[in-house]
Amino acid sequence: MPDIKDMGLKDLGKRRVEWASGQMPVLRLIKEDFEKSKVLRGLKIGCCLHVTTETANLVLTLKSAGADVYLCASNPLSTQDDVSAYLVSEGIDVYAIKGESTQKYYEHIEAVLDKKPDIIVDDGADLNSTAHKKNIVVMGGTEETTTGVIRLKAMEKAGVLKFPVIAVNDAQTKHLFDNRYGTGQSTIDGILRATNILLAGKKFVVAGYGMCGKGVAMRAKGMGAHVIVVEVDPIRALEAVMDGFEVTDMDSASEKGDIFVTVTGNKSVIKIENIMKMKDGAILANSGHFDVEIEVAKMRELFPSREIRPFVEEFLINGKRIYLLAGGRLVNLASAEGHPSAVMDMSFANQALSVKFIAENWEKLEKRVYKVPPEIDSYVAELKLKTMNIKIEKLTPEQIKYLSSWEEGT
Ligand code: ADE
Repeated sequence: MPDIKDMGLKDLGKRRVEWASGQMPVLRLIKEDFEKSKVLRGLKIGCCLHVTTETANLVLTLKSAGADVYLCASNPLSTQDDVSAYLVSEGIDVYAIKGESTQKYYEHIEAVLDKKPDIIVDDGADLNSTAHKKNIVVMGGTEETTTGVIRLKAMEKAGVLKFPVIAVNDAQTKHLFDNRYGTGQSTIDGILRATNILLAGKKFVVAGYGMCGKGVAMRAKGMGAHVIVVEVDPIRALEAVMDGFEVTDMDSASEKGDIFVTVTGNKSVIKIENIMKMKDGAILANSGHFDVEIEVAKMRELFPSREIRPFVEEFLINGKRIYLLAGGRLVNLASAEGHPSAVMDMSFANQALSVKFIAENWEKLEKRVYKVPPEIDSYVAELKLKTMNIKIEKLTPEQIKYLSSWEEGT
């Protein structure tokens, strides 16, 4: 039995999923193909994803290929309850309620595993790692996000990975666009929907200058904020300097920032001692996968707080007011709707085609973390350009020859 908030929300969910579909032409083309080929006929697919309108379009695509699909949330706060209701009305078993407890979150993961999936589609590796703890072996899996890929590579290195997994995050048509432009826009969107603050003129601290951090910094700058980047990697730090940002350590940034956003994938990036140094009114948000980047548990232990607006908690810290957004969970999915559909179009096209790849090739694959096959990556880019009506140049035979030769010089 599915476990969702309210079936009464299904019509709203249907309209919103249709709207998102309008922005996802690549996935629509893949769906048309899947409807004809039924390439996933008879397979059970267990998904652990943010339950959004974009995810709905992915799971409906998998279903259209003949699969039975089971879906739980990949974060307790990211579920859109109207989407769950609509998906249940479409024959997808959904186990996800926005705001569910950690215990419920794991019960929902177990409910998906109880269906004995053949393929796992994951975002953050909670479904995969729970399957491993329970000794459940599947044909293969896919992983959507940086944090999940890091966890899976650690499992591979420790020799405990029990089935092949495709790192969808590492496809170029995923991380160059979803992580940068998706996280960039949706993080700002989450902060603004939660607070309605003005960004122009604010000191905006971004911790982490990977693809996601680059996107957040770029968009905050575009709205007139003065961006300060905090990084541990010297090359990325240098890149941030040359991109025109102030770069410093968290200790110095703590005293300067009006808004702090973590996007590192690591823990304790903003520590209690940093928070103690912050200005009255400082705002803290996280857009990394897990809620461990800001020391939220310690904040709760040490200081009183109250909810001042939805997704905004005010902490009183030695007479100063410090605001935490979305409880330190993914602000872009908790107080906004996640990445825009047009960028998820490419991420989920990679997901759908990677699931098909596993269904067709799983017997030949080893217990490893694989890249998305480059043909799939290029195909997704080609389709996206085509749907945007954008033409690109082709190499001439002479140019191909020139590029593969070494004799010709000045
Ligand atoms: N991750 C980030 N944004 C998302 C979205 N809109 N849907 C599903 N997963 C996401």
